[in-house]
Amino acid sequence: MSAQPLSAAPISVQPEIDVDADQVMALIDAAFGPGRLAKTAERVREASSPVCGLVVREGGRVVGSVRLWRIAVGDAPALFLGPIAVDADARRSGVGAALVEAALSCALGQAVVGVLLVGDLPYFGRFGFTALESVRMPGPVDPRRLLWRASGVTLPAGDVVGVRD
Ligand SMILES: CC(C)(COP(=O)(O)OP(=O)(O)OC[C@H]1O[C@@H](n2cnc3c(N)ncnc32)[C@H](O)[C@@H]1OP(=O)(O)O)[C@@H](O)C(=O)NCCC(=O)NCCS
Repeated sequence: MSAQPLSAAPISVQPEIDVDADQVMALIDAAFGPGRLAKTAERVREASSPVCGLVVREGGRVVGSVRLWRIAVGDAPALFLGPIAVDADARRSGVGAALVEAALSCALGQAVVGVLLVGDLPYFGRFGFTALESVRMPGPVDPRRLLWRASGVTLPAGDVVGVRD
């Protein structure tokens, strides 16, 4: 089940805009550290175009961010979710859940077979993600952390490659 916001106010997820870029980068750096650039997920993103970027703001400050990228899995068009990061002081109040749900809504508007990510099943399982063993990333990834949320009935297989618009 998704975490519930602590405050009564609903969490507002908004499109990322150009002026958010520095704050989003700071958030991602704080959450993942400099080692993130060496990760296989980053190789996929480098070769991709972003499809949507979403943020949550509190008092004008970005406290949460997620992005979706265009990829192909084998021959099938799909999206790659990440990174998702929430400011340490804003965690466990539903910001992450609101961002994942909004990203999945964004994916629904795209002609894709589903959404792939590298993450923890104990967190992302609540949003319908399950492990997907039939795909190959362009570098090492713990297969238990390669997760898939289908938009339809197609279960993709093959190489994961970034796609540019
Ligand atoms: C993962 C992350 C985005 C969740 O953000 P959040 O706003 O705290 O998420 P929510 O409020 O929706 O959910 C919080 C719940 O998820 C749990 N949770 C958080 N990360 C988890 C993980 N990796 N595995 C299992 N459960 C996790 C929390 O313990 C909390 O549980 P509770 O409701 O029982 O207290 C945030 O912790 C974060 O930025 N982490 C660092 C970056 C990261 O790991 N990103 C995901 C990998 S791509």
